[in-house]
Amino acid sequence: MTERPTAAGGTFEPWDHGFSLWFTGLSGAGKSTVANEVAAALRGRGHRVEILDGDEVREHLSRGLGFSKADRDINVDRIGWVASVLARNGVVAITAAISPYRDTRDAVRAMHDGNFVEIHVATPLEVCEERDVKGLYAKARTGEIPEFTGVSDPYEAPLAPEVVVPTHDRTVAESAALVLEYLDSVGLSAP
Ligand code: ADX
Repeated sequence: MTERPTAAGGTFEPWDHGFSLWFTGLSGAGKSTVANEVAAALRGRGHRVEILDGDEVREHLSRGLGFSKADRDINVDRIGWVASVLARNGVVAITAAISPYRDTRDAVRAMHDGNFVEIHVATPLEVCEERDVKGLYAKARTGEIPEFTGVSDPYEAPLAPEVVVPTHDRTVAESAALVLEYLDSVGLSAP
């Protein structure tokens, strides 16, 4: 980590205590649930935290985009850019979009100045489909929803994420603890 000059001629602390926590995984994997738990813990430790949730982003920042590779890439690129801006201003930016394509996630990582933590919420497809919280997997199987991630569209799992969280055999608190333990180990859990 290097100190970066500011426009005013001073220097930021390394990362100014901000970084992005990038949750990726299938629909229904538990990204938002674990992200919220981690956010609460980090706020409790004094971090400023902003969550950019996939569904919420699509109502605002990415309204009108669909689920082709091109549209998903635009969506993920926008989330990545906003997260990088927040992160370099001292905020912990937590994102929770499926972000299914490896090259796009790697491009988002490259937008960050090293302050990027990728978390694969690695809940198996069978479990996500069994949960089917929003009833979308059933519609994907009948073809009512086309290009559905994991069913009729690809999900490229990260090859070297900083954290892997299999949510299917642990509680939400235990899942969040895996992320917090990693942040502790690299000195990021408190500002
Ligand atoms: S991403 O691929 O662009 O990262 P994002 O996380 O924003 O996806 O949106 C995923 C959410 O949109 C899912 O959780 C689900 O609720 C909804 N959705 C609707 N259609 C699809 C689809 N074809 N594939 C995946 N998710 C879909």
